[in-house]
Amino acid sequence: MKMWSGRFREPLDPQFETWQRSLPFDWRLLPQEIAASKAHASALCAAHVLTEAETAELRAALDAIAVEYTTEAGQALVREHASAEDIHHFVELKLVERVGSLGLRLHTGRSRNEQIATDMRLYVRKTIVHEIEDLARWAEALIELAHTAGDAVMPSYTHLQRAEPVLVAHWLLAYVEMILRDVSRLKDCSERLNVCPLGSGAVAGATLALDRTIAARELGFAAPTANSMDATSDRDFALEFAQAASVLGVHISRFAEEITLFATNEFGFVELRESFSTGSSAMPQKKNPDLTELLRGKCGSLLGAATTLSTLLKGLPLAYNKDLQETQEPVFAAADAVEGMLQVLPKFTRALCFRHGRMLAAAQSGYLNAMAAATYLVHKGVPFRTAHEKVGHAVRFAMEKGVELDGLTLDELRQFGGEFGEDFYAAVTLEATLDCHDVIGGTARERVRKALDAAAERVAPLAKPAVEEAIHAGA
Ligand code: ARG
Repeated sequence: MKMWSGRFREPLDPQFETWQRSLPFDWRLLPQEIAASKAHASALCAAHVLTEAETAELRAALDAIAVEYTTEAGQALVREHASAEDIHHFVELKLVERVGSLGLRLHTGRSRNEQIATDMRLYVRKTIVHEIEDLARWAEALIELAHTAGDAVMPSYTHLQRAEPVLVAHWLLAYVEMILRDVSRLKDCSERLNVCPLGSGAVAGATLALDRTIAARELGFAAPTANSMDATSDRDFALEFAQAASVLGVHISRFAEEITLFATNEFGFVELRESFSTGSSAMPQKKNPDLTELLRGKCGSLLGAATTLSTLLKGLPLAYNKDLQETQEPVFAAADAVEGMLQVLPKFTRALCFRHGRMLAAAQSGYLNAMAAATYLVHKGVPFRTAHEKVGHAVRFAMEKGVELDGLTLDELRQFGGEFGEDFYAAVTLEATLDCHDVIGGTARERVRKALDAAAERVAPLAKPAVEEAIHAGA
């Protein structure tokens, strides 16, 4: 029996009927559908549409359905049903099986349009809590690796050409910054989505005088939504979530790209762990970075989800349109992709093996101390532009001689500027080259040590799931 067959004389075309169902993917909203239905029952009780006893019976039956169709890990089990069109229909059918016509009364004063809007908000909110925890784990792994790297150095690059030496820890902490911005984007999305559509009806608001704050409170929402037309058609939260996930994807992809590059023989900075690599069925010598390549590849689908959602939404008139059903799968796909990637990333990151000797050699060759050399001249009173020119000439001369800057004699250096003195050599050592970047956010060794502690402090509170879970009780 359809939920809406009263005014219809013709049966649905069977192919169309099957094709338009959302149960094949919205089954995973079971926990949210149950929580929202229980909250609606409470509101109906307060409005005296249901008695206390009926409400208790309905709520208990809803709990029983949740238990029956949920794994121990909290995953919904429903995937198929002979006649259920969507998860709302499924729960209603199961409810009627358990409590008879009382089950049908739960739909009093509500519409699937507000239900799906509520379920999706709850789903995205829960997903964000988990994603933040997972991001914290990845940030912790990067910080741990940065600690282990200590004062190890590597070249930094601009234009993919060697630029200046940096601490390996400094490079790793750059990713922690990205992660912290991702967390803040997700939190922001979670805060804005935290209003409850229940009571919005199909489009114009519930036709019963429901106290909308009851369901909102029970579900951990900050308030009921303010406009029923917006509430039933708004999927900004889905779009914002997918967009935040796509920015996160860009970050993961950049990391994956760097590791892939650093693991080549040409760079030779990273030794791939066998447990995270694959071989070639054709070339016996190969050890391939499939993990980072897959990360890079999967990020494409995150960008795709965000594009799908904005394309879906941009032409929709208010309020509910069936197109909105299509907003679910991109959200689920983005959530799954991020979850998968963040499961492997912390382990993979912790297991990264740097070839410090090669990184050091690369950081010490190619005149990466030229900026430090120019700065030396600046301290001697030479304007930076002139210092740049003089050091440029010295670099050219050294290249021709086949040495680094510190391989030039003082007499040779003095051809390019009378300001060069014995103390030049101490000013262009690797340590001095690092330490002259002594500003907030710079790679001076002491600054990086402090930045490491600061990063750990900023990440620590994110890895405490219990707090967020308590705030977002209910689903
Ligand atoms: N399965 C539908 C969806 O995901 C539920 C809402 C259906 N509403 C309607 N008026 N047909 O969008």
